[in-house]
Amino acid sequence: MILFASQSSDDTAALARRIGARLRSGDVLLLDGPIGAGKTHFARALIQSLLIRPEDVPSPTFTLVQVYDSVAGPIWHADLYRLTDPSEVEELGLSDAFDSAICLIEWPDRLGIRLPPGALRLVFAQGAGDDQRQITCVAGDGWPDRLKDIVP
Ligand SMILES: Nc1ncnc2c1ncn2[C@@H]1O[C@H](COP(=O)(O)OP(=O)(O)O)[C@@H](O)[C@H]1O
Ligand SMILES: [Mg+2]
Repeated sequence: MILFASQSSDDTAALARRIGARLRSGDVLLLDGPIGAGKTHFARALIQSLLIRPEDVPSPTFTLVQVYDSVAGPIWHADLYRLTDPSEVEELGLSDAFDSAICLIEWPDRLGIRLPPGALRLVFAQGAGDDQRQITCVAGDGWPDRLKDIVP
């Protein structure tokens, strides 16, 4: 488990870029934490650091999924808050993407039991100050090595 005390949105963006630089197809990041904790901010910074062509990265609140072309292959950014039934995950094509793309998943608890094994879980929590966040990386198989020295 790796703890990161973010002092600002820039801090969180910098962590996102450092993690992004180590990702490859088939990696799944589960972004947990309440509304406003910084999940989308983290995903946006990570995606923008890897985009082939600059583009906006909106929150996928209503589309549920946005797909981007990145230098590390396709990136799927999902926000499953509005998912009503875990079976919709198949319709979205998300389970195939878990194997073939980089996936950043907000509200992964909506997946029910379909949580991909070997995912990296990041838990975002509000800190003491307005702009402070505690980000806890819960690293499954292989991740501790890959995240070595990720926190300065
Ligand atoms: N340390 C921080 N890390 C991440 N976001 C922060 C931080 N401090 C302030 N913020 C702000 O908090 C908001 C988080 O919103 P968002 O990323 O949409 O949350 P979520 O997707 O978790 O609901 C953004 O406006 C962001 O600029
Ligand atoms: Mg969000």
